[in-house]
Amino acid sequence: MPAILTPIKTREDVLFEDSLRPQKFEDFIGQDNIKANLKIFIQAAKKRNENLDHVLLYGPPGLGKTSLAYLVAKELGVGIKPTSGPVIEKAGDLSAILTSLQDKELLFIDEIHRLHPSLEEILYSAMEDFSLDVIIGQGPGARSHKLKIKRFTLVGATTRAGKITAPLRSRFGIVHRLDYYQPEDLKKIILRSARILKVKVEEGGAEEIARRARGTPRIANRLLRRVRDFAEVKGDGLIDERVARKALDQMEVDVFGLDDVDRKILYTIMENFSGGPVGINTIAAAIDEEKETIEAIYEPYLMRLGFLERTPRGRQLTAKAYDHLGNHQPADQRQKKLF
Ligand SMILES: Nc1ncnc2c1ncn2[C@@H]1O[C@H](COP(=O)(O)OP(=O)(O)OP(=O)(O)O)[C@@H](O)[C@H]1O
Ligand SMILES: [Mg+2]
Repeated sequence: MPAILTPIKTREDVLFEDSLRPQKFEDFIGQDNIKANLKIFIQAAKKRNENLDHVLLYGPPGLGKTSLAYLVAKELGVGIKPTSGPVIEKAGDLSAILTSLQDKELLFIDEIHRLHPSLEEILYSAMEDFSLDVIIGQGPGARSHKLKIKRFTLVGATTRAGKITAPLRSRFGIVHRLDYYQPEDLKKIILRSARILKVKVEEGGAEEIARRARGTPRIANRLLRRVRDFAEVKGDGLIDERVARKALDQMEVDVFGLDDVDRKILYTIMENFSGGPVGINTIAAAIDEEKETIEAIYEPYLMRLGFLERTPRGRQLTAKAYDHLGNHQPADQRQKKLF
């Protein structure tokens, strides 16, 4: 995937994400259902002066999981300790983090599906009884002791909900899946980012960028920065619809935000497998991509567009996909262009 359309955080994104990250719940655009629910739970917890129940946020990269975790802490008026699954190596690391938590504080574990399985057990008792089992002494004299920790809130984030074990998942009282954003919401995000970055953008320009941003705020913000470069070099800096369209066309971002791998997947199913159904492993092998990448990044978006369906016998193209592909080029040209 060209860097411009990847939902995964790039080094350049890191430079901008702090300034563009929503600072208040009101700045967090879209995902209305999740926001409404979280607000109620947060209010209730504050009213009872209790810790918020543990929260699991999942969904494709770049949709706002980390942003939401920070907003929850802010709204609760508590501190947040961020860490991530692969960073916690030993039981001692996790115990040290857990014992350092203050009352009602938020522990944010990003990529929680990558937490080592042997550490999950520690989390279970921490999440359930707010205690840790520690072994005191060595050899035959060693005994187990329950160490109380503060009542905290664990917020876990993952792009791979399916990889979370059932026992861990069941210990989260609040579970939310973030979904791709509608173009209207992405447009609002782009207009807000433009204000912060002091970029002049017209409504039509924002709409054009929003349509091609793969339903993903991170990509929308990135496209805005790239189109700004174009507008500054080729024009007077103003992003109107025409400038946005020209810039995005030149960067080969298509009208649906599809990139060459998406197209490869669709054409392969259409031409080599008569439209499907075909298994994910077969598709992965045919286009020489990792199965995991297809499942986590490409397939959800193609399904969201209504181009691809999951059936018990594999993936299948929809009529909508045929319309989109069929109207373009004859098959022999497509073959040449793609492979
Ligand atoms: N609802 C939103 N409103 C406004 N901006 C948003 C929203 N969601 C995400 N963003 C923007 O997109 C950027 C990426 O979001 P964030 O880092 O929270 O995504 P993520 O789901 O944690 O991604 P990853 O899976 O890669 O960790 C943020 O810095 C923010 O600028
Ligand atoms: Mg994140």
